[in-house]
Amino acid sequence: MSKHSETLSKRTAFHSLRGDWASRQQIGYLMQQGVDYPDCLSLAAGLVDYDSLPIETTRESLERLLTEPRLARQALQYGTTSGSKALRQTLLDYLALLDGITPGELNIPPERCLITTGSQQFLDLVTQALFNPGDICLVGDPTYFVYLSTLEAAGVTALGVACDHHGVIPAAIDETLRQLERAGTLGRVKMLYLVTYFDNPRGVTMTESRRREVLELLERWESHQHIYLLEDAAYRELWFEAPPPPSCLSLDSTRERVILTQTFSKSLSPGLRTGWGILPHKLVKPVTDLKSVHDFGSPHLAQFLILDLIQTGRYQQHTAMLRQSYRNKRNAIWKALEQEIFVLPGMSADCPAGGMYVWLTIPPGGCNTRFEGTLFPECAQREKVMFVPGELFFADRSHPSADVTMRLSFGVQNESNLAEGIRRLARGLRQQLGG
Ligand SMILES: Cc1ncc(COP(=O)(O)O)c(C=O)c1O
Repeated sequence: MSKHSETLSKRTAFHSLRGDWASRQQIGYLMQQGVDYPDCLSLAAGLVDYDSLPIETTRESLERLLTEPRLARQALQYGTTSGSKALRQTLLDYLALLDGITPGELNIPPERCLITTGSQQFLDLVTQALFNPGDICLVGDPTYFVYLSTLEAAGVTALGVACDHHGVIPAAIDETLRQLERAGTLGRVKMLYLVTYFDNPRGVTMTESRRREVLELLERWESHQHIYLLEDAAYRELWFEAPPPPSCLSLDSTRERVILTQTFSKSLSPGLRTGWGILPHKLVKPVTDLKSVHDFGSPHLAQFLILDLIQTGRYQQHTAMLRQSYRNKRNAIWKALEQEIFVLPGMSADCPAGGMYVWLTIPPGGCNTRFEGTLFPECAQREKVMFVPGELFFADRSHPSADVTMRLSFGVQNESNLAEGIRRLARGLRQQLGG
């Protein structure tokens, strides 16, 4: 019996099917590993750098807000479901700036912008508004594993599409759509989900030409099936050498194909739990209605704080500082990888130009990187270092690359811990590979 045809009447549990589907999520398991091995140096956690969290900037901004009673009362009151209109307008102006166009050229009204409790809520609301159980979502392979769980919890099948150094491969999308058409299930495909900047887990950014090719491809399929592109730009502002290409949203002249989401979690503070997104006209009402029944608005105080930080230029100063700090961390982990890991045969990774992840591939045929393999416990128990097994990031966990890949995060640890973590990982690998 498929999980979708299972009926409540046959169940003994007191919770719903959705509760069952959500129970297969991986983030809780991964966090439990952190609890089980507390003395480990973690290259697994996707948290942001502790030292650069904006304590002083936040204190000053709160002081400004709270010493002005009219503003303070507004900020401490409920807001609206969509979020502060002033912030939404400011975000649209900021988005236009990032995309190198004027707000007039971007031409998106604030009504299409929704402020959410982290971008995770935006991803979840869009998923709930768009998909029925049994529907299909294409995802870049590998991809952000929490979103895979979001899809699973909604009863949606995730189908992985191959990616290379330029992002998702358009021919692979085309081939998957053809196969689905032959199988008679094309009508269930509603969306393609991509992390388009310094992605989680590979650190790769989709090139501008790829963005255009993917948009053209979806346009070609329009007469068969309308497929949205959900562009997750969580790491967009964390570039190291040069600003990344414009968003897919800004390259889509219709402004109706792409659903874009960004977050203040990586560029400011995840504790503020503030994300936002742009919706196509048709999705504004269903997504906002769903948010109304979730929480009828994200924390208002955080929105006022962020608006103040953007308007005073403090936010822009902070992201410039973060870029420098993460660049130093990237340099530290990369140097350690060159000294300790790439000297071992068959190891490879791309040097990330932004974000906070390195995706390491180890040679096939030696050990595997899975939780149940021998390398993970060797590293966690003996060497006291932890990575995230690649298997979590594949829509199909039996994907061959899931045996030989791991995500290393340079977000949390300082430069000397990064070097030490990589030394420990190299010892674990040598132990397992017999080097
Ligand atoms: C690719 C990606 N998207 C979205 C999120 C969600 O972030 P938040 O809900 O804190 O905005 C994360 C968090 O790690 C992420 O890596």
